[in-house]
Amino acid sequence: MMSDELKRKAAERALGLVGPGMRIGLGTGSTAAHFVRALGAEIRARRLDVIGVPTSEATHRLAVECGVPLTTLDETPELDLTVDGADEVDRELRLIKGGGGALLREKIVAAASARMVVIADRTKLVDRLGAFPLPVEVVAFGHPATRLKLERALARLGLNGHVDLRGGEGAPTRTDSGNLIYDCRLGAIPEPERLAGMLAEIPGVVEHGLFIGMCAEAILADTDKIDILTAEQVRGSG
Ligand code: 5RP
Repeated sequence: MMSDELKRKAAERALGLVGPGMRIGLGTGSTAAHFVRALGAEIRARRLDVIGVPTSEATHRLAVECGVPLTTLDETPELDLTVDGADEVDRELRLIKGGGGALLREKIVAAASARMVVIADRTKLVDRLGAFPLPVEVVAFGHPATRLKLERALARLGLNGHVDLRGGEGAPTRTDSGNLIYDCRLGAIPEPERLAGMLAEIPGVVEHGLFIGMCAEAILADTDKIDILTAEQVRGSG
């Protein structure tokens, strides 16, 4: 089965978590897009009364196209469920997100939700986070100075990978909030909690792509099965 089919399979399974009246955070990326499309179809078929908060301008456009009624966190600051993709998931349900550049809004929306569920094809499950470059969103003002602080913080943790400005110096990528992204190619992150703490302390860093203690459940689709990893299982094995 192709990876895109697996993404769709995971998204369709997540539809089972949606109930009438729910306020739902809508993630960003190709897997989350499958969920938005499936949700739109479900709303039409069952006249389901739900409302969504998109995590990016791209998801906003898609949700409108698919007929998913939308609100904002200004109007609806508490959500029941967020369904989003991830770049990596480990067995403790720690995530790397932000490959699509939407990490800031994704984290705000996930934090506003009673439950965050990740949908992915099974290749996103890793033994150790860090093969995927960790995105760090920074404000444009003084960003070379922020980059130095970032590199020094990584070196203090013994992480000596490359730090690349997304899009390159000539035409850096701007996020939906007008910020820049540094992708940190680390190879492996032995202590994600420690790294998250250090990144959060750097002035100029708006948010980073480590989502720790946020994901309640991961739906991981494989060709012949769907694996569900839950926070309860994680706590039980700890
Ligand atoms: C966007 C994200 C995405 O969820 C992540 O990049 C996974 O994307 P895809 O579902 O296309 O593999 O964090 O910022």
